[in-house]
Amino acid sequence: MHTQQQERPSTLAAVVAGHSPAQADGDASDLSRQLSQAQQQLMQSERLASIGQLAAGVAHEINNPVGYIFSNIGTLERYLADLFRMLAAYEAAEPQIAGTPAGREVAELRESIELGYLKDDIPNLMAETLEGVRRVRKIVQDLKDFSRVDARKDWEWADLHRGLESTLNIVNNELKYKADVVREYGQLPEVQCLAPEINQVFMNLLVNAAHAIEQARGTITIRTGVTDDAQVWVEISDDGCGIPPERLPRIFDPFFTTKPVGQGTGLGLSLSYGIVQKHHGNIEVRSLPGQGSTFRVSLPVRQEGAALS
Ligand SMILES: Nc1ncnc2c1ncn2[C@@H]1O[C@H](COP(=O)(O)OP(=O)(O)OP(=O)(O)O)[C@@H](O)[C@H]1O
Ligand SMILES: [Mg+2]
Repeated sequence: MHTQQQERPSTLAAVVAGHSPAQADGDASDLSRQLSQAQQQLMQSERLASIGQLAAGVAHEINNPVGYIFSNIGTLERYLADLFRMLAAYEAAEPQIAGTPAGREVAELRESIELGYLKDDIPNLMAETLEGVRRVRKIVQDLKDFSRVDARKDWEWADLHRGLESTLNIVNNELKYKADVVREYGQLPEVQCLAPEINQVFMNLLVNAAHAIEQARGTITIRTGVTDDAQVWVEISDDGCGIPPERLPRIFDPFFTTKPVGQGTGLGLSLSYGIVQKHHGNIEVRSLPGQGSTFRVSLPVRQEGAALS
């Protein structure tokens, strides 16, 4: 297994501070390239943040109507049960009007509307509708959890498993046709972090894992655990194509992508790297071509003093 631990400046300030004037003379064009990359990264991370805000705003708006649709369907189900009981009583009384004009009309109507079929189908439709609304409600909740706009945009104590779960639901569409997700969660304490940003990291690692799976169906395994009292880790593994050793040093570079135009911008890992750095953690990757990759994010449980400003 090849292990690559990246050590490179991840913020605009670090890029600038990392160069002495003499060096800057020597490689001004390199510096300006790095500056423009850092700028692009900042723009991308702002774009992601505003997408998160937008998603959470929409989720908030949908929440209310979904709430009453859900509760109305529950009430409708009860009303329908009553109506069916009433209908059964009419049916039981029907022989009494058989042969009369009213009786014939009732019989014709029953046939033309296919009453038997309706009685079978209506409960199915209701159950399906309820299930659909339940799913929408869950997605809305996950979107809210995922972007946490209602939370302070601040360091907070967060349950990483909850973050992983809401992220999994958000990316479910990308994953479900490609891979089975296996969870091997350990016991994690709450971690002091910027939860929406950590969720972005999980999202990128999960989507990358799904993209790496070239076979008909693969497995993505999520493991979590604690290193010691002060540090936790989250690993996302896939059994996809793997990364050739010569490519490993570049995968965290901004705009490094092996995906076709339109499928990847090559910013996911570099942004993730920046986010994890900001949390004083690190990302490591182990990979074997043809067998798969494991990305391991380690995070301190607590952010010390200055880090919180
Ligand atoms: N799990 C993985 N398996 C194999 N290759 C990977 C994996 N994760 C990342 N890579 C490689 O690293 C490259 C960079 O990943 P990164 O997430 O930064 O960008 P991207 O996925 O190509 O595009 P973006 O995330 O911006 O949509 C990928 O194009 C791919 O070649
Ligand atoms: Mg990516």
